[in-house]
Amino acid sequence: MDRDKLTFIAGAFIFFTIGILAQPLMSQDLSLPVLYHSNDDSFLVIAHRGASAQYPENTMPAFKGAVEMEAEMIELDVMMSSDGVPVVFHDARLDDHSDGKGLLKDYTLRELRTLDVGSWFSEQYRGEKMPTLEEAIEFASGKIALNIEIKTEAVSDELHGGVEEKSLELVKKYGMEDHVIFSSFDYRALEHLKKLDPAIPVALLYNRSESENMSPLELVRKYGVDAFNCSYNQFKKKWSRELKEHNIPHFIYTVDQPRRMRRLLSAEVSGIFTNKPDLLKEVATEFQEKE
Ligand code: G3P
Ligand code: MG
Repeated sequence: MDRDKLTFIAGAFIFFTIGILAQPLMSQDLSLPVLYHSNDDSFLVIAHRGASAQYPENTMPAFKGAVEMEAEMIELDVMMSSDGVPVVFHDARLDDHSDGKGLLKDYTLRELRTLDVGSWFSEQYRGEKMPTLEEAIEFASGKIALNIEIKTEAVSDELHGGVEEKSLELVKKYGMEDHVIFSSFDYRALEHLKKLDPAIPVALLYNRSESENMSPLELVRKYGVDAFNCSYNQFKKKWSRELKEHNIPHFIYTVDQPRRMRRLLSAEVSGIFTNKPDLLKEVATEFQEKE
């Protein structure tokens, strides 16, 4: 055999071996957000609507607070303005968490940006503006992973031009595609996201009344998603075992009491959404030291 042939065969062998060995790592990377900071304990501290016990929820101060508290991920809620811009806000109505009135979806971005979304929480935050999703992603890029929850009110039947496609475009614009996980109670959004980009990590938000008695694993498989998000009250400890066996990350919300945090830590859930990331970090560290 001549030298060229031998070099070719050796090269092909090395290429395929590396490919096979790297496979599990690559597929894992595709289905879970890559964290910027992690203590490698395979447990995620997720700041629910930012550090929302100390700052007005879903605002830039709440997101900055979450980074300062060293949360590993920020969860935020996405709605759409009447002129089709994704904005960060939880409620369908403006009344409770801003000085506006009525449905958010009836206002243009320009109108929404004149609202005060801080003073309902404290005078200190009077004049705080509703963030656009772009502003939040730009801030998070290079700093902290995001769970982008698409609110049901923002979802339509259309695959193109809707909140999912626009949000995905923003994620890609800021190079955040490996550092986000999308989620929604509206399963149309999950299907749209996976059609638009099968590699983008997506979690199903569990709702007992819509689960048709399916187990978490069955639901995850049915919708072809990567992770399972569930409220503390609906979550059953035994689900954790099954999800773990199948390597399905599962994240539980919204937990601010240390006793509940410890209960979930002992069930080995993948992460907890909390309004108090500083407290969760403390409880998790203490729990891990005792283990
Ligand atoms: O994404 C977890 C949690 O935020 C879902 O409920 O109502 O707080 O958006 P909600
Ligand atoms: Mg939410």
